[in-house]
Formats: sequence, structure tokens, C-alpha cells
Amino acid sequence: MPLSTIKPRVRESFERAATTYDAAAVVQRRVCERLLETLDPSVFPLAHQLLDAGCGTGYGVRLLRQRWPTAHITGVDFAPAMLDLARHDSDACCAADIEMLPFAAASFDLWWSSLTIQWCDTDIAFAEAARVLRPGGQLALSTLGPGTFKELRAAFSTVDQHRHTLPFSAPKAISEALTHAGFCNISLRREKHTAHYPNLKTLLHAVKAIGAHNVGEGGRSGMMGRQAWQQVEAAYEQHREAAGLPASYDVIIGYARK
Ligand SMILES: C[S@@+](CC[C@H](N)C(=O)[O-])C[C@H]1O[C@@H](n2cnc3c(N)ncnc32)[C@H](O)[C@@H]1O
Repeated sequence: MPLSTIKPRVRESFERAATTYDAAAVVQRRVCERLLETLDPSVFPLAHQLLDAGCGTGYGVRLLRQRWPTAHITGVDFAPAMLDLARHDSDACCAADIEMLPFAAASFDLWWSSLTIQWCDTDIAFAEAARVLRPGGQLALSTLGPGTFKELRAAFSTVDQHRHTLPFSAPKAISEALTHAGFCNISLRREKHTAHYPNLKTLLHAVKAIGAHNVGEGGRSGMMGRQAWQQVEAAYEQHREAAGLPASYDVIIGYARK
């Protein structure tokens, strides 16, 4: 089942998570900051029209504003409740799917997207990015690689064969999709970020609070029995660190030119 078939459910989860997102999105903010910090200012000094594709509550928009105070920044998200929160900081807000952007070709200098394309068909999303960027325009993205939530997968694999995370793409697949969409000067880097939680319940609660709990085909549909749950908890405890139960994020940060 392609990711597009679960899109309505993904959108609904983000719609419901809008009010809890900011309090739980610690790693997401850090990743946004890394994406901007490592976007070489000398490579891309001037920008007038910026697009934040999957802007959520607008944290990226606020960061972009600090770097380019006079730019016109458009936030796009398919969850209107997220956009309502991003609206204060954006010059324009648009409820749309980043796989089908309602903008003319060559409209933007920068296509920016942090932790969103893991829910998209990358071929379609990057083709749209290439279409709306002007020639020479810059792409900056962060997404999640296959090591993301590895502890969660290992713990649940002790009780069932269901999918418990999204099918995250490896850097090679991201790079190939960018090349396929016509991008050049592609550079990708991997960073490990870790969030810690006191126990498994709070960890899963935090994933739900950012709206990121839809996993696509093969996800568990029914409730888990008490015994199975205790087994998962015990398996996850094997990963405990001094700071708490870790949730690993295998972050891919990438830049490319049209
Ligand atoms: C994890 S949040 C990241 C939000 C923001 N970029 C940040 O870093 O805080 C992912 C966001 O992407 C949006 N999203 C996911 N798939 C999308 C799509 N195909 N089109 C538009 N928005 C999408 C969700 O609604 C959600 O607000």
C-alpha cells in the first residue's frame, strides 16, 4: 500500500495534534535549527520568496525570518489547524498538499521542508519542488532515515510482526529521487538525535502528541493484550540509558540546487 493511501489519516492525526505539537516537538525544533545552521549562507545569500513545505506550527518560518528578515515567506501544510498556528509568522499561508502545490512554476528562491517528506512520495514531492523553484533555486530538507525509532521496532518485534514505524528512506534513495527530479549539487548528511522519556507510555504519548503515529501498511489495528504490553516494556527497558528510555532519530539533512 503506497503512503498516499493513508494520507487522509496522516492529515487527520496532524490536524488533531496541532495544539499538543509544540510542547512535544523538542527534536523537531532542534532539527529545524540544524537545517538552518548548516545551510551555508555564502552559498545562498539572497532570498526573496521562501516556501516552507509542511510548515506545521511555524517554527521553521520563524527561523527563516531571522536569517532573511525581508523575505516573503509562504507556509504550506495540509492540516489547517497547524496552519492556524503558523499564520501569525507567515506572509502567506496555504492549506495544500506539498505533492500538488498551488503555485506557478519558478515562484520561489528556496524550497524548505523539515521532517515532512517522510510522509510523502519523494518522487512527486521533489518534482513539485523543482517545478516551483526558479532556476538556480535552493532546496533544503530534513527527513528521517531507517535508524529512526530502532529501539521501538526491536521492542515490538518481540511480540508481533506488525509495522510500528514508517518505512523510512535511506540517504541513497533520497539522493536518487533528487537527481531524478533534476536537482544538482546534492549534499546529504546524517545526524543522530535522541529524545529520552521516563517510560514507554510517555514515549508513545509524545509520538502521538506530534501527530506522527500513523505508520502505513501493516500497522497494528487492534488493542494489545496486557501480557504483550508488559513484554514490550521489558524489551524496551534493555535500551534504557542514564537519561531515560531513548528514542533515536536518524536525521538526514540535505541540500540541492535546481
Ligand atoms: C513533523 S511535522 C513538522 C512540522 C515543521 N516542519 C517542524 O519542523 O516543526 C510534519 C508536518 O507536515 C505536514 N504534512 C505531512 N505531509 C504533508 C503533505 N503531503 N502536504 C502538506 N503537509 C504535510 C503535517 O501536517 C505536519 O504539520
